[in-house]
Amino acid sequence: MDTLSIIKRPIESELNDFIDLFNSSLDHEDGLLTQVLHHIKQRGGKRMRPILILLIAKSFGKVSPTTQHAAVGLELLHTASLIHDDVVDESNERRGQASVNASYNNKVAVLVGDYVLSTALQQVGYTNSNSIVKYLAELGQTLSDGEILQLSNIKREEITEAAYLEIIARKTAILFEICAAIGAESAGVSEEDVALARAFGKNIGMIFQIRDDIFDYFESEKEIGKPTGNDLTEGKLTLPLIYALNKTGDERMMMLARKAKMLSISSKEIEELVTFAKEKGGIEYAEECMKRYHAKAKVFIDTKISNPVIKQSLSTYLDYIIKRNK
Ligand code: IPE
Ligand code: IPE
Ligand code: MG
Ligand code: MG
Repeated sequence: MDTLSIIKRPIESELNDFIDLFNSSLDHEDGLLTQVLHHIKQRGGKRMRPILILLIAKSFGKVSPTTQHAAVGLELLHTASLIHDDVVDESNERRGQASVNASYNNKVAVLVGDYVLSTALQQVGYTNSNSIVKYLAELGQTLSDGEILQLSNIKREEITEAAYLEIIARKTAILFEICAAIGAESAGVSEEDVALARAFGKNIGMIFQIRDDIFDYFESEKEIGKPTGNDLTEGKLTLPLIYALNKTGDERMMMLARKAKMLSISSKEIEELVTFAKEKGGIEYAEECMKRYHAKAKVFIDTKISNPVIKQSLSTYLDYIIKRNK
């Protein structure tokens, strides 16, 4: 059985129900909005977040309509944030097809992103769970907070690993954190177990973004479905390079990094920075870092997940997050 089939095995029918509910939540009658929503529905993402919600809920109890509405709400919020992200990053490809801003324009992408975000609110409203609504609100706030922190960090002189980790915790890990919490909450477990699930989700999310940032150091593979090599053009320094800079204090590379932060770096200079980060072991360092989060997450699976099929699925999920190539 291939990796994704092992991951989905315990929740196959629940995931199909999820996809139906997700698509029908974006049904719309006519006009430009219908067209754009059709474009969005045509290519789903990997659905790593809803899969996590469903697996945790099933492991702790069962997947209820509350779980499903929460999962759809969360995936919609994630989708809206990507539609807006591609405007902010001026990126032209998403999920293996043209981004909304590229297919239409920035105005359409901002407005449709708002529509999708509002649909997310509608879905969590259907859960009738106050705490799930609060989780989604916290998620939306933290995500935006992380994106803004990232933006202001570009202008800051100092280049630290701590600032990087804080940004990825807020802009990415929070999603996985809230997924695990919502999955546990919707299954009605104790507050203590919700907190443990949440910490598990955070470890997954940190790995997820570090891996995503590593993609950017390599040529775009067709599988990834979005462009790579953009981070430095956008002034974003990520873990492999931050490590190499701080380890060596290389003056020329520091100068180039500052140029990247001022958004005035050439593609040849970007290549120099990428080669430097690789030569100084930046990729290996980031991989070690991921392994530490992986080990922490593994403890949760070993101690809190009793169903053997779900245990195997979550372990495979965790390994996939670290090894994935899309
Ligand atoms: C993209 O997330 C945003 C990041 C945190 C890098 P995914 O890679 O999970 O996107 P989809 O949902 O599969 O398209
Ligand atoms: C994606 O961030 C959006 C959020 C995490 C909120 P990035 O800009 O780093 O990721 P990609 O590469 O466009 O998916
Ligand atoms: Mg971005
Ligand atoms: Mg982006």
